[in-house]
Amino acid sequence: MDNDKPDSLVTDDDLISIARQAMENAYAPYSKFRVGAAALTSDGRIFTGVNVENASYGLTVCAERVAVFKAVSEGFTRITRLAVVSSSGEKTFPCGACRQVISEFGDVAIVIAADGGEPARMGIRELLPSPFGGDSIK
Ligand code: THU
Repeated sequence: MDNDKPDSLVTDDDLISIARQAMENAYAPYSKFRVGAAALTSDGRIFTGVNVENASYGLTVCAERVAVFKAVSEGFTRITRLAVVSSSGEKTFPCGACRQVISEFGDVAIVIAADGGEPARMGIRELLPSPFGGDSIK
């Protein structure tokens, strides 16, 4: 889902409920672990993602990466906030691969993990203090 609201008008509660709505489209017939994500860009656009599994298990892509890739493929490369929900009912933080991908497109991005009480917020640098990249690839 996209929308055109400016960044400042989109609350974390908005992002969480958009992620929860998106989770209905999760394709998780193997793990049964459904995940929904909603990424807010610096332009105030919102892109959702769900986990998409495959019979060849290793081809599965996480909800967070789907959301980021949708944003980037539409030309929005600055992710400022990203909400994640899962069917576990517990807080779900992005896996390591997704942290590296989020980091590429937003070194100030805040990840919001909903469920299990109050949402938890963590900066991407806190979640991934030493991303691959920078000087190491020059
Ligand atoms: N998954 C996500 O979508 N995001 C995460 O942060 C962790 C795991 C998915 C991958 C797989 O479809 C299922 O959850 C179980 O690992």
